Amino acid sequence: MAAPSSRTCLQYLLHLAQDNLDFRLPEIKALLSLRGKPFHPAESFKEQSPFWCLDGLSEEDVRTVMARSVCAKSAFELWGHGRTHSELRTSLLKYPSENMTPFMQRDSTYRINVYTFNKTLEFADRIKRIDAMEYLPFEGTVSLKSPQHIFCLLEDYGTDPNNIPEHPSYVYFGRWIADGQRELIRSHSVKNRHFIGNTSMDAGLSFIMANHAKVKENDLVFDPFVGTGSLLVACSHFGAYVCGTDIDYNTIHGKGRSSRKNQKWRGPDENIRANLRQYGTQRSYLDVMVSDASKPVWRDTVLFDAIITDPPYGIRESTRRTGSHKDITKPPDDFCGESHVPVSMAYHLSDIFTDLLNFSAHHLVKGGRLVYWLPVYRPEYCEEMIPLHPSLRMISNCEQTLSSHTSRRLITMEKIKEPEESDALAHLSDPRFSPYQGHNAFREKYFSGLNKKLGKDDSMDKVNGEGQEG
Ligand SMILES: C[S@@+](CC[C@H](N)C(=O)[O-])C[C@H]1O[C@@H](n2cnc3c(N)ncnc32)[C@H](O)[C@@H]1O
Repeated sequence: MAAPSSRTCLQYLLHLAQDNLDFRLPEIKALLSLRGKPFHPAESFKEQSPFWCLDGLSEEDVRTVMARSVCAKSAFELWGHGRTHSELRTSLLKYPSENMTPFMQRDSTYRINVYTFNKTLEFADRIKRIDAMEYLPFEGTVSLKSPQHIFCLLEDYGTDPNNIPEHPSYVYFGRWIADGQRELIRSHSVKNRHFIGNTSMDAGLSFIMANHAKVKENDLVFDPFVGTGSLLVACSHFGAYVCGTDIDYNTIHGKGRSSRKNQKWRGPDENIRANLRQYGTQRSYLDVMVSDASKPVWRDTVLFDAIITDPPYGIRESTRRTGSHKDITKPPDDFCGESHVPVSMAYHLSDIFTDLLNFSAHHLVKGGRLVYWLPVYRPEYCEEMIPLHPSLRMISNCEQTLSSHTSRRLITMEKIKEPEESDALAHLSDPRFSPYQGHNAFREKYFSGLNKKLGKDDSMDKVNGEGQEG
């Protein structure tokens, strides 16, 4: 039920999932900015906490965020809070009655839930907590099964499971507004997906990427390293039209060896289109094609609202591009005869990212976002290694730790201006013309080290292998 509009100074409480901690703030900020709303945390804001209090929002803003968020579990209209139950009581008794009464009417039904973070309460203790709220002027009837209004007492026992205090460190009480989209993680799990590969992206992370990219209905989204299309699945769920390319003919055509246990070859109809059909978003599927991301196959104009991708790290899938080590065997640029089968050569990690940024600077609409994963060797990581482009502003940089030595970072950039004339001259795939070549010398060195190190470490394999059953 929508809240009456005369109610003022409302504050909202988000309860966030305690995983992928780094990804939560950029997700919520991106979803708020889709509503044109800034992120206004209350004074006590702690990014690592499972509870965030937000100011300056309407109930509709909160509902819209929750309709997309996979990082947030639930949202509440905050009625009171404090370090102890006594402080909570004082705070609740001060809460404007005109904000409460519409939900406490005699002819209404309600229920109070008790939620504890980092502690399990006995049933009897929960009942005691509810009974202790009798000072609130509820006039309606309790309905456990289908109440009109749900209220929640939330107790925070900190984040250390080895040091759980006897009493909560903070308590909140509020009216439940909406749940987030955590269910998508299960419903879209690659374990039950029609077409998967060794590096299919985890469903939760795919949705987080789509949210960081601010993908919205009728957008045009492109994945240059599309693989089995997990990122397209997530973007199409939010109503975007999706397309992609991959250098691998078998992946694009759904042929070759299966990644499933007990299945040697991919079956008929194991392809990206079938994945979208499985989730009812086939109408959003444009197409995918076999193409080398290092080659300029697209019209030189802005095309995409978002570019969202997981480039190859060279562990399970090789980093390749078309071409030959011997220039002499290279066909002329204008050759497009059907009998030509391109030879492949190594695609250096730093070139992958330089190309990706150049490509995005040229083909994203202004305000459009590039979201991609960057592999990192942690002992040597520093922010200077993140590739930059004058047309792209860094929005967020979130780490997902894979092992003590490796991680990958989810980088989000936004296009702020068209590339300069001199940038435009730079051939998209030819590093000789790259205006950032000198600036990139450090990164060049970093990535060649990383290439070797990742080759010896299988943590990237493990995280990327959610799709592999065998
Ligand atoms: C990490 S996987 C992407 C996985 C994908 N996100 C999914 O969910 O299945 C990287 C993909 O890049 C492709 N690839 C490697 N080199 C490429 C190139 N030069 N151009 C286009 N695709 C390439 C590989 O074939 C592989 O499918």
